[in-house]
Amino acid sequence: MGKPKTIYSCTNCGAQSPKWGGRCVQCGQWGTMEEEFLETEPAASAAHSSLATSPPVPLPEIPLSEQQHTPCGNGELDRVLGGGLVPGMVVLLGGEPGIGKSTLMLQAAQSVAASGRTVLYVTGEESMRQTRMRASRLGADSERVFVVAENSLAAITAHIETIAPDLVIVDSIQMIHRHELAAAPGTVNQVRQCAMELICTAKRRECGLFLVGHITKDGTIAGPKVLEHLVDCVLYFEGDRFHSYRILRTIKNRYGSTNEIGVFEMTRDGLKEVLNPSAIFLSERDAAQPGNAIAATIEGSRSLLVEVQALASKSSFASPTRRASGLDSNRMAMIIAVLERHAALPLGTNDIFASVVGGIQAVEPAMDLSLAMAIASSVRAKPLSADCVFAAELGLGGELRGVTMAEQRLKEAEKLGFKQAVLAPSSATAQTPRGNIRARAFRSIAEVLDAFC
Ligand code: TYD
Ligand code: MG
Repeated sequence: MGKPKTIYSCTNCGAQSPKWGGRCVQCGQWGTMEEEFLETEPAASAAHSSLATSPPVPLPEIPLSEQQHTPCGNGELDRVLGGGLVPGMVVLLGGEPGIGKSTLMLQAAQSVAASGRTVLYVTGEESMRQTRMRASRLGADSERVFVVAENSLAAITAHIETIAPDLVIVDSIQMIHRHELAAAPGTVNQVRQCAMELICTAKRRECGLFLVGHITKDGTIAGPKVLEHLVDCVLYFEGDRFHSYRILRTIKNRYGSTNEIGVFEMTRDGLKEVLNPSAIFLSERDAAQPGNAIAATIEGSRSLLVEVQALASKSSFASPTRRASGLDSNRMAMIIAVLERHAALPLGTNDIFASVVGGIQAVEPAMDLSLAMAIASSVRAKPLSADCVFAAELGLGGELRGVTMAEQRLKEAEKLGFKQAVLAPSSATAQTPRGNIRARAFRSIAEVLDAFC
């Protein structure tokens, strides 16, 4: 056994380098390079030996079996997982501290247990008593959920072997450590090695595994980002603290489609599934106010109606302020230029603020038209018609461009009682089966303004 080798790993992106530097050359973050001692890597060799036992097989001889998703029992979680858990599926759940990851995992544990399966919940951060208190508040009291407060990887692996659960939840991976490694818990090396061993165990036993990982904006904690390529599915739990809505987003899924979202509301009794998010995002809308436009946007395979608000006011400075929240600010700058040039709106001396209501992020290009209409409506102090939704991308020449999944956007708008949708000519051929909504085709932003504002 040689002398332990020293390397430096970036806690943000996991890049490794033999030399220390103030800035990571790969991701450009400052002060994230941490010293680590590489030992002989027993986990890696264990992983290799378990792989080497299976001989290579010609492709057609591999039995063709559909992956069976077993629902967890939580509709929104099942949606982002692609229908539920597959045996041996490893899911990484990332999110900022306090967003509700532990709450979601306990609720998932409860609903999996309710279907007769056994769950092992490893809490590395909270005590057993804290977990029990939270669980009783959430109404989670299944005898099939086993809880253990443990940080040692060896102990956790031993518990998995004895309890033989169908689902293991590790909350959080940053608190787990292997004694053989010199590095502190939470460092890139520990996180990666512990995750690799847990993943091997889950694959061998064919049980589901959720790894919870904290992520912070400045990346000072060893980011779960280094784990993204090791796991089957990556979910991010997001939302802002000032709103009770939380969005669970699929970033990667080997067993389903990505870009799915699940919507939850954080209440006093835990996370509630939001079955009709559009209705909630529009619930406080005042259609008589100028500066509001409804966009039919797509998140994953799901259509979502959101309210875009804009406020244009005379600026007291030479260079006016432009701020966008929940929207792409670069696109907003472009849309302002298009409105000035092709719709003759005098915006040069206006401060412009725009946001998406409900604290959600909607950055697809199909949001362009609704933002343009909200700005125009605010400048002209004229409300838009209350029964209309917008979905089109704007080109630099002021032309409307087609969007994907136009029919789905129409259906969602129809469901919520909207009567007309403004689209580019290429998307306006879409129809809904019930036909209670009219798809109207416009060629340019100037034409839409003539008709609506
Ligand atoms: P938590 O699941 O501990 O977050 P994480 O594991 O991501 O750090 O949830 C944290 C917040 O959720 C906490 O500030 C309180 C709130 N909360 C509720 O509003 N209702 C509830 O029923 C529970 C359990 C938590
Ligand atoms: Mg937690």
